Amino acid sequence: MIQTLSLFGGIAADDKAWKRLGIDTKKIDYVEIQQNRVRAYNALNPFKFRPQDIHGWNLKPDILVHGSPCQDNSRANRQRLGDTKGSRSQLLNETVRIIREMGEWRPKIVVWENVKGVLDRNVISVFNSYLHDMGKLGYTNSFDVLDAREFGVPHARERVFCISVLGDDVFDFCKLKRKPMRPISEFLEYGYHCVVPDQYLITIPSMLNKIAEINPVKPTDTYKRRLDEIIDYCYTITERQDRCPNAGYIKCAQGYRYLTELEVCRLLGYEDSDYKKLLKEFPSKPGKRNSVIYALFGNSIVVDVLVAIFELIISGNYAKGLFDEKEQQLRFVV
Ligand SMILES: C[S@@+](CC[C@H](N)C(=O)[O-])C[C@H]1O[C@@H](n2cnc3c(N)ncnc32)[C@H](O)[C@@H]1O
Repeated sequence: MIQTLSLFGGIAADDKAWKRLGIDTKKIDYVEIQQNRVRAYNALNPFKFRPQDIHGWNLKPDILVHGSPCQDNSRANRQRLGDTKGSRSQLLNETVRIIREMGEWRPKIVVWENVKGVLDRNVISVFNSYLHDMGKLGYTNSFDVLDAREFGVPHARERVFCISVLGDDVFDFCKLKRKPMRPISEFLEYGYHCVVPDQYLITIPSMLNKIAEINPVKPTDTYKRRLDEIIDYCYTITERQDRCPNAGYIKCAQGYRYLTELEVCRLLGYEDSDYKKLLKEFPSKPGKRNSVIYALFGNSIVVDVLVAIFELIISGNYAKGLFDEKEQQLRFVV
């Protein structure tokens, strides 16, 4: 059985993707520092991991998935922190250190996911040095920006995926199986113009002011962050979705509303049963949006994108010797 490791695990979309593909994996460890995220991961999976810091970690996985914290790469924060030593972007180097300290052992595949901002000029040096270091460790890197909408999910979420293959093979992003975007109605808990529970209504004046229908943009306006209406797809769901609906608003019978926690779960490619497990672990307060659940999903990776990546890793034989012939010939129906 292949051995997997999630660094900066969150709720580990990678586990969900392997399950969706019907591939048995052995989780050799899950490294995540935040208590709530570890509790959430344990609630979704049959494990009892404890929070642990990436610094000072060592084991030998076949496949390593890591999505180091991305806040410092976001456009808002990078002016402040850039690629300075103290920034969380530098945690990327921890993965390199961990692989280096594995001695002769090397994971066959290393998958890294992050925000598109890592490619911006003033922070790209962190990513470039990661590519350089991985190259020195014997990997061939290839990276691309993938949007969840290309993989069937009506969620405009563009993320950089870097796939490092041990040896000389170049992971060919063009061969990823793209899918038509599904209608957003399949993901909504409450349809357009329906009555929704009060906690989902946008009532804060500063948020309402960002809706063009209420506060039309004037030609003299300097740039102001606006909220968009969700029509065919939502915009990027963030950790703070419960406070600022960056993903967009939906018109409902009472006015304008936020996406619900269940909708956010579905738009990240998780199942309703995952949401129920998390709700049991982190119950909502009556009449309140559940900020913990919004943050857990908002921080994750769209499972469908990882499914497509893993599928190609297997069918393209990038992880030599890891998957048996039967698994390689699988024509996944997911
Ligand atoms: C962008 S999220 C990754 C989410 C994950 N890929 C998923 O599917 O949910 C980055 C994670 O790194 C964790 N983290 C930050 N610093 C850490 C550290 N020093 N050691 C371990 N985990 C850390 C954060 O708590 C956060 O959950």
